[in-house]
Amino acid sequence: MNLIVPQQTFPRGTARTIGKERGDTLAARNRALQDGDVVSVTIRRSDDNGGATLQAFEIPYTRAMRVLDALNYISQHLAPDLAYRWLCGSKMCGTCAVRMNGREVLACWEAVEPSMTIEPLRNLPVVRDLVVDRAPYEQRVANFQPWIERDGDYAGFPEPLTHTEVKHASKALDCISCMSCFSACPVVGLSDVTNFAGPAPLVQLAQTALDARNSPDKVASALSVSGIFNCVSCYKCEEVCPAKIPIVTSVIEPLKTRAVILSPQLAHHALTFRSIILARGRIDPTELVFRVRGLKLLLGLGRALRMLVRRKINPVKTLFGRWSGASSVAARLLRKKDR
Ligand code: SF4
Ligand code: SF4
Ligand code: FES
Repeated sequence: MNLIVPQQTFPRGTARTIGKERGDTLAARNRALQDGDVVSVTIRRSDDNGGATLQAFEIPYTRAMRVLDALNYISQHLAPDLAYRWLCGSKMCGTCAVRMNGREVLACWEAVEPSMTIEPLRNLPVVRDLVVDRAPYEQRVANFQPWIERDGDYAGFPEPLTHTEVKHASKALDCISCMSCFSACPVVGLSDVTNFAGPAPLVQLAQTALDARNSPDKVASALSVSGIFNCVSCYKCEEVCPAKIPIVTSVIEPLKTRAVILSPQLAHHALTFRSIILARGRIDPTELVFRVRGLKLLLGLGRALRMLVRRKINPVKTLFGRWSGASSVAARLLRKKDR
């Protein structure tokens, strides 16, 4: 199907958007391939022993072919038992996400590449082949009890909301729950260590926690089980989001701000980090460790000694080292950001 629409049928301003989209069509991204070219597809398949093997296929390229078209071809002609999931075929339902050549993509939206390795999403149990179990994500979302509880009475429809009051929550509403960000996040994989809910559940939480109508107690209670301060702001989640949600800037950072206001004890590490920079003009790992861990450090004395030996901490430098002259600049920048 030709998706190019004549510019003159759209009002001024719309044409620019269409032009931008033209550069991102399947046809544009598939210029390297011609009808009939061979596309090499390697798929990670589950075996009968609970492990996985890689299976290679060669398929003929057809115009504007998507990853989903390649999977459909393989399932119809070469491997009828291939398990993969999709529903809408048009970037709406979020069920078809896989990893292609090491990055998370929607199979129904991503153009094929001449040579592709397709794997299931990470950080979720594999049911079979490319199908993952979404239950861990759904459980985390359920733990947040993601609905609005008003402190006051319902004002009636339509409720008086300003753009500012809903701007972050409304961005989160674009989420199609595809789990791409959950798979790309390097901290989710450490879940037992960090107890971090992960980007996709936090985007769901933001839909109500960043809504001005929600009760602060309700929001604080949800944030207390989010592990949100374990996010390291690496932006991997944003890079792969097919809905182009600014996950860090419009979801995670505003949620962290809410947590600092509603439950400062959750932000102990972040607030200590900030106060050290304010005072010293730089981070001091020794002071950070001592102030965050406190007496608990005595319980993990072996670990503290290892940090000392590896020069991760240096109490002498902390006590007698010169403070950076940048502290006044740091204070000015941080206070400016607060305003
Ligand atoms: S920015 Fe945070 S949530 Fe996003 S991938 Fe990095 S650690 Fe995960
Ligand atoms: S935030 Fe983006 S990547 Fe994450 S689940 Fe929602 S749509 Fe997918
Ligand atoms: S099949 Fe629905 S988003 Fe891809």
